[in-house]
Amino acid sequence: AFAPDAHRPLHGRHVLITAGPTREPIDPVRYIANRSSGRQGFAIAAAAAEAGADVTLVAGPVHLPTPAGVMRVDVETAREMEAAVHAALPADIAIMVAAVADWRAAENADQKIKKKGDAPPPLKLAENPDILAGLANHKARPGLLIGFAAETENIAEHARAKLARKGCDWIVANDVSGDVMGGDENSVHIITAEGSEIWERLPKPEVARRLVEKISTTITEEN
Ligand code: CTP
Ligand code: CA
Repeated sequence: AFAPDAHRPLHGRHVLITAGPTREPIDPVRYIANRSSGRQGFAIAAAAAEAGADVTLVAGPVHLPTPAGVMRVDVETAREMEAAVHAALPADIAIMVAAVADWRAAENADQKIKKKGDAPPPLKLAENPDILAGLANHKARPGLLIGFAAETENIAEHARAKLARKGCDWIVANDVSGDVMGGDENSVHIITAEGSEIWERLPKPEVARRLVEKISTTITEEN
């Protein structure tokens, strides 16, 4: 037998990651979206691949190169993202970093909606599927299921409530009270059943590296 490779602790593991925003069409020229650069999710995909994992990265519309050794699936809407996530199962670890649009336009017009001169058109919304909560209840639930959350206040408290509501194992809560949306650094709270940690103002690749390290330690202890 081979000695466990300390440099490739996730060797043989399938890691499934969502990243970026989703984009929900209103008509052929307009859409609803979330603010997300995709950089934190892509950095986690890169770090997981470096740790030896087989990585599937389901990416919303972003302008980022595919990290080395990562299998990338590009999607646009939340429903496409959900289908791509289900198609990628089974996975040992899933990390849902995407900023999924909570709502889509109830109807997607075939033709450009024109100004009519009087009142603006009403925009009816429909709720998108919750991909993370869906995975938590899936028959092929990944053994380690990690959600992200962007919060502006009461970060740990909101994140712990989200952990329970979503049925995931960890929440990585991003403190977005400062000016971090699309920035280089993140301050995060890692919330688990056991407790919580705070990682202050770290470059996104460093958050990714530490998260992959924590995942590797947890996975290795469990098996
Ligand atoms: N998420 C998801 N599918 C959705 C919405 C969210 O998979 N339709 C995932 C995100 O990728 C993230 C986690 O759920 O990992 C938390 O997302 P967030 O938007 O913070 O949670 P919501 O339940 O949508 O709550 P909120 O009202 O605060 O937006
Ligand atoms: Ca949301």
